[in-house]
Amino acid sequence: MNVLVLGSGGREYSIGLALQKDNDVEKLYFAPGNGATSNLGENLKISDYNELATFAKENSIDLTIVGPEAPLVDGVVDIFKKEGLTIFGPSAAAARLEGSKVYMKNFLAKYNIPTARYIETSSLQDAYKFIESLPTPIVVKADGLCAGKGVIIAMSHDEAKKAAGEMLSGNSFGDAGLNIIVEEFLDGYELSMFAICDGEDYILLPAAQDHKRLSDGDEGPNTGGMGAYAPTPLVDETLYQKVKDRVIRPTLDGMQQEGAPFEGVLFIGIMVVNGEPITLEFNVRFGDPECEILMPLMTTPASELFYKAATKDLGNLDVKFSDQVAVGVVMASENYPYSSSTPAEIIVDDKHHDELKHTHISYAGVKMEDGTLLASGGRVLVCVGLGDNIRQARDRAYMLCGQVHFAGKKLRTDIAYQAL
Ligand code: AMP
Ligand code: GLY
Repeated sequence: MNVLVLGSGGREYSIGLALQKDNDVEKLYFAPGNGATSNLGENLKISDYNELATFAKENSIDLTIVGPEAPLVDGVVDIFKKEGLTIFGPSAAAARLEGSKVYMKNFLAKYNIPTARYIETSSLQDAYKFIESLPTPIVVKADGLCAGKGVIIAMSHDEAKKAAGEMLSGNSFGDAGLNIIVEEFLDGYELSMFAICDGEDYILLPAAQDHKRLSDGDEGPNTGGMGAYAPTPLVDETLYQKVKDRVIRPTLDGMQQEGAPFEGVLFIGIMVVNGEPITLEFNVRFGDPECEILMPLMTTPASELFYKAATKDLGNLDVKFSDQVAVGVVMASENYPYSSSTPAEIIVDDKHHDELKHTHISYAGVKMEDGTLLASGGRVLVCVGLGDNIRQARDRAYMLCGQVHFAGKKLRTDIAYQAL
């Protein structure tokens, strides 16, 4: 089949890598892709969704997979489906689970899915009143998409009030902050869980842990994620079952009742508090870098998994996972996450060591210029190591990190520490 992947990050590269190895895939396209996806398939310079749908029809694309949230919230799935195309991802209506935190929190409350105690408000007075009633820290969230920056964990009541004020006045996030959530802080350990959904059935992937802070020991500012590993030993069968029964099943049933059946990747951000999984948030797409470590753990062909999910046929699929562990270490550019960095050439040493056979790179913030691959900013790439256990996978990932060079490269040295 011919497959189109929408997006340009390491997440989309890793999906592309799995599809490239898949015998059923003939032609692979990326829109827009990055400087390295052009080695896996063809990059398209089409950004208009209607034009993309026309391209898909004219070029016999059998399956389109959407990586990031923005095109989903914008309704790319609805546009493709109207044209009779097969596309994997939620409709705009279902993507509101990520596009609006107010919608998501009210949905969780309506269907009795455990989440942090909260209020939704557009009134500064109400926000102040609720803030006063909470112990610190206090969490303040903008309603709309803010490129991962819309959540403030305030250490004092004054800081929480200031954050609420700046959001509600439109100063910090424009219209995305005109409605806010104020909620209690949950103290526990965080998990990323992913369910591939077809509206009715789902397949739960091995639980992963991301590392959101920039620096070792979970210090420094929040980022999109500096590394991840899966499966995590922090989840046992009991916890998986609780997530299935208390979160995923009621969510799929609830979205059907809301008239917006959920198809695509349901990304559940979970805080485990005293052994109980509490839903922090939903995203409607794969996590990045979680995708880069989950894709290599799936032994079912990627095209089959995503095609069956996109055609409401998951009930007939027996997904197989490898019994290995994957660890991914992000290499970011010098000024990440604050500002852009000067493009720098990426040099990867030859894989002279046997251990490196169990590693690969997933490229993200890169561009190709005159045949040279340049780190073009943000999170540049992910070094992935596979192994029989976490220590082995992590050692291999870090061995690969030592082989990759670009000016200003920045990485955490403690990925997977919670599991060791
Ligand atoms: P979100 O985008 O809602 O997942 O928030 C981003 C990050 O903020 C999460 O990954 C958590 O690390 C943290 N966070 C969000 N809500 C809470 C909460 N209620 N308690 C503790 N940490 C939170
Ligand atoms: N790594 C977390 C995210 O993709 O949102």
